[in-house]
Amino acid sequence: MEAIDNKPSADRIWNWLKAVPDPEIPVVSVVDLGIVRDFAWEEGVLAVRVTPTYSGCPATAVISMSIEEALRINGIDEIRIETVLSPPWTTDWISDEGKEKLKAYGIAPPVDGINDEVLRVGIKRVDGGWFSSWANEELKVGDTLEAMKPMGNFYADLDPTAARRYLGFAGGSGITPLISIIKTVLEEEPKSTFSLVYGNRSAASVMFREELEDLKNIYLGRLSVLHILETESDIDLFSGRVDREKCDALFDAWLPVGPDDYAFICGPEPMMLAVSDALKSRGVAKDKIKFELFKSSHPKKAKAKTSQEADATATCEATVTVDGISRTFGMTKDQTILEAALAANLGAPFACKAGVCSTCRAKVIEGEGEMEANFALEDYEVEHGFVLTCQCRPLSDKIVIDYDQH
Ligand code: FES
Repeated sequence: MEAIDNKPSADRIWNWLKAVPDPEIPVVSVVDLGIVRDFAWEEGVLAVRVTPTYSGCPATAVISMSIEEALRINGIDEIRIETVLSPPWTTDWISDEGKEKLKAYGIAPPVDGINDEVLRVGIKRVDGGWFSSWANEELKVGDTLEAMKPMGNFYADLDPTAARRYLGFAGGSGITPLISIIKTVLEEEPKSTFSLVYGNRSAASVMFREELEDLKNIYLGRLSVLHILETESDIDLFSGRVDREKCDALFDAWLPVGPDDYAFICGPEPMMLAVSDALKSRGVAKDKIKFELFKSSHPKKAKAKTSQEADATATCEATVTVDGISRTFGMTKDQTILEAALAANLGAPFACKAGVCSTCRAKVIEGEGEMEANFALEDYEVEHGFVLTCQCRPLSDKIVIDYDQH
């Protein structure tokens, strides 16, 4: 037996492994992504089990070499990398920190005349932003990135015979998915119009300026764009932030809003909530207001403001099913279902944790829960028992939740 004396602790080994970047998305480590599944000493050899994101992934060889190098630098010479394909890797394995570092981006429209098959995203550098800093400073032509499948409800079913009025509200890089939607709507519904309110800190931070001008020229009389700048505008109506007061002023003076209008909002959470409230106050139906959260101002909010004040001492027996795996555990009634499911090591899906993206959608099979906020589910989904688990706290003493119901 070749046992190594004074083996480093498991925590130290995890820390070394956490320093190994994923070769395709170096802002996250192979541990963040759940590619390193576990390790164990076996007769003096450190066996590290690795699950590639898909079978045959060419990055696996690079990952294995990087892991070996990181361990050797720290004095471990006897290493065996084992590739484990079952159960296969899923996005559920990405750690909370990894999910924080990864970002979702809206798909921007193709550039005319270049290549309509090319998918584009607009990534604006955010101070302290892991992914945006890396993408702006280090990502280069020729690099390969792995992306998750497209998700979300940020679209409307289009009807080529319809003559609708669409309103768009974008803040900063929230313009990215909107510009794509504007183009699609105006192309697919020749009788419809689009009015865009686009908020930015200054003229210098306006994204896609030329493309918006081009679209206005292509769809003359059908697209109007109003820039609201926090600075640099002498006209009160067009300066400041896009908040509730600004919306009311705009709706009164420039953009009359009616119940038949459709609205798309993409920007920071306070803007999104303010615009949504203002639209609802003018009679726009909830199911015609679509959200895409660009940045939540308080993604980790945990305090309930539900009709029944959540009780931190009251408990509930929860049974939760994710990907066919069911687990029963106790939780307090001031926890959200998502928090409790994650604490129970169930790989429950989530993204925004703000009630906007619907990634955490699940069905209440038994019992009762209440959502603090819901910007994503349609009324009929709620009627059928679906909830946003990041917003839902149990009211009953027993609750059964199924993430696999669609
Ligand atoms: S995680 Fe986005 S709505 Fe719950």
